[in-house]
Amino acid sequence: MLACALFSFLLLVGVQAQPSPELQKRISAAIAAAANESNPDYTAFVNPFIGTDDFGNPWSLDPIRDDKVFTDMTGYAPAGYVANPTQFVRGLSPLHDSGTGSSLGTYGNFEIMPSLCPNGFNACNTTLAARQRLRKNNTDDASPGYFALTLDNEIKMEATATRRAGLERFTFPEGSKLYFVLDLANDLPASFAGGQLTINPDVGRITIGGRYGSSFGPGRFNYQAFACYDLLDGGRQKLDEYGVWTGDLVGLDAKGLGQTRLNLSLNLIGGIYQSGALFSYDNNPTTVNIRVGVSFVSEERACENAETEIGSATFEEIRERARLLWLEKLSKVEIDVANTSPNVTEMLYSSLYRASLTPNNATLEAQGLFADTTSFYFDSLYCSWDTFRTFFPLLSLHSPVEFAQIVETDGLKEASSAYIFRMSIDAQLFLGSSADNIVSHFTVYYHNEAQQLGIDLNELYAALVTDAEVNPPEWNIQGRQVNVYKQYGYVPFAVLDVSSTGRQTREGSRTLEYAFEDFGIRQVAQLLGNQDDVEKYTNRSLFYRNVWDPSTESDGFKGFFQKRYSNGTFAFQNPINCSPNDRNQSRPCSLQGTNVNGFYESSSWEYSWYAPHDTAHLIELVGGNETFVKRLDHFFDAGYYLAGNEPSFQISKTPVGYHYADRPAQSVDRVREVVFDNFDITAAGLPGNDDQAAMASLLAFHLLGLYPVPSTTHLLILSPFIPKYTIHNSFLNISTTVTVVNFDPKSVQKKNPSRSVRVCAECDHQRSALCFALPF
Ligand SMILES: *[C@@H]1O[C@H](CO)[C@@H](O)[C@H](O)[C@H]1NC(C)=O
Ligand SMILES: *[C@@H]1O[C@H](CO)[C@@H](O)[C@H](O)[C@H]1NC(C)=O
Ligand SMILES: *[C@@H]1O[C@H](CO)[C@@H](O)[C@H](O)[C@H]1NC(C)=O
Ligand SMILES: *[C@@H]1O[C@H](CO)[C@@H](O)[C@H](O)[C@H]1NC(C)=O
Ligand SMILES: *[C@@H]1O[C@H](CO)[C@@H](O)[C@H](O)[C@H]1NC(C)=O
Ligand SMILES: *[C@@H]1O[C@H](CO)[C@@H](O)[C@H](O)[C@H]1NC(C)=O
Ligand SMILES: *[C@@H]1O[C@H](CO)[C@@H](O)[C@H](O)[C@H]1NC(C)=O
Ligand SMILES: *[C@@H]1O[C@H](CO)[C@@H](O)[C@H](O)[C@H]1NC(C)=O
Ligand SMILES: *[C@@H]1O[C@H](CO)[C@@H](O)[C@H](O)[C@H]1NC(C)=O
Ligand SMILES: *[C@@H]1O[C@H](CO)[C@@H](O)[C@H](O)[C@H]1NC(C)=O
Ligand SMILES: *[C@@H]1O[C@H](CO)[C@@H](O)[C@H](O)[C@H]1NC(C)=O
Repeated sequence: MLACALFSFLLLVGVQAQPSPELQKRISAAIAAAANESNPDYTAFVNPFIGTDDFGNPWSLDPIRDDKVFTDMTGYAPAGYVANPTQFVRGLSPLHDSGTGSSLGTYGNFEIMPSLCPNGFNACNTTLAARQRLRKNNTDDASPGYFALTLDNEIKMEATATRRAGLERFTFPEGSKLYFVLDLANDLPASFAGGQLTINPDVGRITIGGRYGSSFGPGRFNYQAFACYDLLDGGRQKLDEYGVWTGDLVGLDAKGLGQTRLNLSLNLIGGIYQSGALFSYDNNPTTVNIRVGVSFVSEERACENAETEIGSATFEEIRERARLLWLEKLSKVEIDVANTSPNVTEMLYSSLYRASLTPNNATLEAQGLFADTTSFYFDSLYCSWDTFRTFFPLLSLHSPVEFAQIVETDGLKEASSAYIFRMSIDAQLFLGSSADNIVSHFTVYYHNEAQQLGIDLNELYAALVTDAEVNPPEWNIQGRQVNVYKQYGYVPFAVLDVSSTGRQTREGSRTLEYAFEDFGIRQVAQLLGNQDDVEKYTNRSLFYRNVWDPSTESDGFKGFFQKRYSNGTFAFQNPINCSPNDRNQSRPCSLQGTNVNGFYESSSWEYSWYAPHDTAHLIELVGGNETFVKRLDHFFDAGYYLAGNEPSFQISKTPVGYHYADRPAQSVDRVREVVFDNFDITAAGLPGNDDQAAMASLLAFHLLGLYPVPSTTHLLILSPFIPKYTIHNSFLNISTTVTVVNFDPKSVQKKNPSRSVRVCAECDHQRSALCFALPF
């Protein structure tokens, strides 16, 4: 989504000076050494910097967790960290979201920043603009469970973490007197709405918390967050000066030495007001260790989280615990390292790593509507439009337990009132209801085990039906505009809707998305044996046909999806609009109310491939297999394909679309091309942001030679980049090994010279989805 999927032509080119070159040397050495090891350390293959060039796809220190401790940068850095060396460090902070394209970012609350204050407490630089600093080039480092960076004044900052707590280590040259600024009011999007801070100098603890704005969705949504900083390293450190500060951009720069409390209960003017704590240490230490706990419930809970999850464990102990958790996650996919190209190994494990960073596991930390729930609770689910395509299908292959926990989050317990698909805490989804396809994907894979996994399928189905039938009062933030969709058989352009509001834009793509969501619901109805509903939702899943305008022509091809008035007339828009070939770069194509193109973040050229559940009919609409293939070729060769945008990879399934016209070898060629043109192991190695691991999981599937069709168990078979791999599913007690017969390492390049490979799989159990899919 806008949100998540920015067009690749917005990509800025960063100047390469981060991360440290030692990082790649270390990874390459680990991959080389692993050739002869039976149990390699997969965490050593991960390069967390891939894709951090300008958008920032940062890392978490534990798999699927809240606490992601690393530095925030200035400039366009929605996820906090970017590798771009010309951006400044704002501070180290514990809460982040991974790989989203929100223009302002999310979280970044409670930054801590070490500062040299030669003129003492009262003259110390505390405000954001004054305290920010450049990094020393070629020093940034990270691995699963660890982050490090050195400022240009030789202060080194390191972090490691558990689920809801972190340890931070600061090392600096002898003789320097360091102050630490702790920020209450400066989250990344500058959305502070009020909060408080208390210094308890006797125990060396600062508690801090407040309310902040959600990253997407109307401004009415706020969330609360808290942290608990323990400053004394179990008594090994001693505070010197401490106090509070406030500042703004127009002259306010006030310090309160010895003061211990800030109570700023209301802030209506956004990011101008800045405030926090400032402290220094006695005895001129050269290393300072700080422990931080976070919570979305209370300051007390934040302190408890730090105590229970870290206690008195050392930095190295916590780092090792995090590494072991990551090793368990990454070992779900094992490959023949010796015979795989090292870059492919690095891309694969880095992708699997990023595909475990989100959604955030906020179980027992719920708030707002969900406060006090003891159910599993995840947040940052706001990229469903991106993640239903490949992220959840990947999860379904190896992690059904996690998948079930996330499905449960999505409001099944509240299904009786309304099926709410949440975005970041409290705010909700605004692009139809891709969650329909996510929960139906879970159901088609795990209906037999649903109960064992804690999911009541009847409850789940009731929730889907609510989403399909109940028109919410404002369908931009939850649910769908189903009243007019049912009445006309499509979402009409400029239609009178007397029961709900919402921006009347993107009617073409909304119709296509709703239809595929209805297909997902149909799949669940079928598994539950509800024949009436199967017929009803099968019919509705074909509504996409109602926005196909056979008369629209572009580049010599006829027939495109178009938005349509309620009287049935199509509202012509040039199919090239909002594609990379659109000469008008100022056309609104995204969430803007002024987007009149009929499609979301995409062109009609791109969306006109979208009927994932009915491609055979789409081929007929397009004019048959031969035209379909020619049109696909033109789509790529003329530059309509956007690798960094979800519509290109699943809406159209374009690189693999050739399968449907019986030309799988051409899909293989396109996938090779797409991978080598768009992905690599550098900080610039992603075509845009990661969209909460939509890109990571897409790349993983490409490398494994598979492509999933959501809401079905279909996996299209391509030619793997890896000669042999095993996917473990510990819940089903199944391991599936895929072996490529006649694997030719020379085929792993942009132009694949050899096409004689055959893919075979050995399954130790018939129950594996992969074994269902592969034709043996
Ligand atoms: C792995 O073992 C093979 C055969 O024993 C040997 O030729 C090769 O050099 C070893 N590779 C590494 C990286 O140790
Ligand atoms: C404080 O910030 C100002 C810019 O606002 C900068 O010129 C000055 O060098 C900073 N002082 C220190 C000690 O970093
Ligand atoms: C790091 O390198 C970049 C690009 O070469 C340069 O713009 C920047 O000033 C350097 N940073 C420092 C702290 O030297
Ligand atoms: C903070 O200030 C608000 C009013 O602005 C007051 O209601 C609240 O009691 C204060 N809290 C504390 C702990 O002093
Ligand atoms: C591996 O990736 C690096 C960095 O992008 C590139 O320079 C190198 O050519 C790649 N190696 C292969 C064999 O593709
Ligand atoms: C989420 O957190 C809960 C509570 O700690 C835990 O039981 C559950 O296994 C976690 N799930 C995932 C997917 O991390
Ligand atoms: C589904 O469509 C068919 C063919 O148009 C129609 O005959 C049937 O009545 C429809 N069923 C439902 C439940 O709407
Ligand atoms: C349908 O409505 C549109 C917009 O008002 C109008 O331009 C078009 O002529 C109408 N078509 C018919 C057949 O009346
Ligand atoms: C580009 O699109 C914008 C918005 O639709 C429009 O106002 C503008 O006139 C267009 N420019 C050109 C050159 O067509
Ligand atoms: C396209 O090719 C497939 C596979 O050979 C075939 O089943 C299908 O009938 C063809 N479709 C058309 C419209 O010719
Ligand atoms: C997997 O094996 C465990 C231990 O043997 C068993 O408890 C569990 O029921 C098995 N799961 C399935 C889905 O068969």
